[in-house]
Amino acid sequence: MNFHILTLFPDMVMQGIMTSITGRAVKEHIIEAEAVNIRDYASGKHQKTDDYPYGGGAGMLMQAQPVYDACQDVFSRIPPEHTKRVVYVTPQGLPFSQKMAEEFSGSDDLVILCGHYEGIDERVLEEVVTDYVSIGDYVLTGGELAAMVVVDAVARLVPGVLHNAESPETESFHGNLLEYPQYSRPEIWHGKRVPEVLLSGDARKIQKWRLEESVKRTRERRPDLYARYRKLEECRALLETQKRLYADMLALIDRGSAEVLIWEKERILLRDSGSGCLSYASFSLDGEEQFWEQLPEAFLAGCFRVTLHQDFSREPLQRRIPMELSRVCYHVVYTPREKIPCRGLYRTQDGSKKQLVIRERDGSGRYGVYGCLGNDNGKHDADGCLGNDNGKYGVSAGEDCLGVSGIDEDGRISEYEPLLEAEGLPAKRALWTFLINRVLEQGKRPYFQIDRNDGASLALLEEMGLYVSQTPVYQMESGE
Ligand code: ADE
Repeated sequence: MNFHILTLFPDMVMQGIMTSITGRAVKEHIIEAEAVNIRDYASGKHQKTDDYPYGGGAGMLMQAQPVYDACQDVFSRIPPEHTKRVVYVTPQGLPFSQKMAEEFSGSDDLVILCGHYEGIDERVLEEVVTDYVSIGDYVLTGGELAAMVVVDAVARLVPGVLHNAESPETESFHGNLLEYPQYSRPEIWHGKRVPEVLLSGDARKIQKWRLEESVKRTRERRPDLYARYRKLEECRALLETQKRLYADMLALIDRGSAEVLIWEKERILLRDSGSGCLSYASFSLDGEEQFWEQLPEAFLAGCFRVTLHQDFSREPLQRRIPMELSRVCYHVVYTPREKIPCRGLYRTQDGSKKQLVIRERDGSGRYGVYGCLGNDNGKHDADGCLGNDNGKYGVSAGEDCLGVSGIDEDGRISEYEPLLEAEGLPAKRALWTFLINRVLEQGKRPYFQIDRNDGASLALLEEMGLYVSQTPVYQMESGE
């Protein structure tokens, strides 16, 4: 990912970025960062970049031309196939958040424009800026510190910027909770002891204590976040009354991406803050029609998929917005915490036995060796691991890739796509077993969405110890 900061004070910005973790990431070429001096684009002997505001008022304003020329120069160096955002840091922007940082980290280039004095001529902002961002309700002397905050928060989300020991564990805002208190040596300092439970070595107890402390701290320090947390927990409790049917909604809450749009005794409507897709649970037919009729337009705007968990919601939804039924599938959920033992020998048609191997597809679309079944003890082949768990995995016997499947960030495992016609069940079973274990390693609950007509897959997963929801879910999509 490339950061371009347009500023009148490039040294200040580069000194900040080149320090510590972001500096290391630049030196290792995991990210690129440049500070572009807007003054270099000012015309005239004195390279003046500011002038008085029309209409009077205190202070000076940065002029449009040098800012525009600096931007155009940066844009001309960004390859056309790159995705880019142009951020103007200003107290008038949207509050910067973890969610925004995640969104920015998905683009190839982030251009950040720093204002100084009283700001920048509005006309150039209108032409170049895509996002207005504020780092808080206070006024700084310039945008440089704000730009450094944005670069830091975005850069640490770029894969490879944080090394393992610093992993983005600090998902302080995950699930709307602040982080629990932490302690290091010595055990007693200023007469204060490290809480006993942290010395116990009992991982479950420690996890429980940390969650309780997080909740307590959030309640005391951030009542706004705590209210959101409570709301999600109440939704979770309702959805957990049917864990299989609502496996997708529960996974969304666990991932920390669920936005609660509606939460009543009889209905829950969640939005995936990443994709904008909606998931809906209704516990009563009464009032269904009115619910869809009265749903605020803003909830439906830009949404291309709604997952319904009750058949009776379909027609009322369709009367409100034009959406077609695209898939009907059952949720199939793996509930134990223990992994499934892998058995990886595969009998070919000529009767010989071959080792099944799981490969992960790399950027070029090829599959590199990922891990071997049979001798897999939960640890995958570190050399072969390409590091992207959202990717697709293939299962092979010898050189032949027999079929592929994948994992998404919710822990959902995709349907098996056979590549070689003759090679069916054993390979599929082996790959799915491997993927279930991978999802468990990530601390998530593995589940599948299997087409209601795919009896073979449903039977196989049941035989493997998974549970099928009693009723299916309905995926509704808009035509666009
Ligand atoms: N520039 C000046 N103050 C700022 C703030 N609070 N956030 C972002 N940019 C700024």
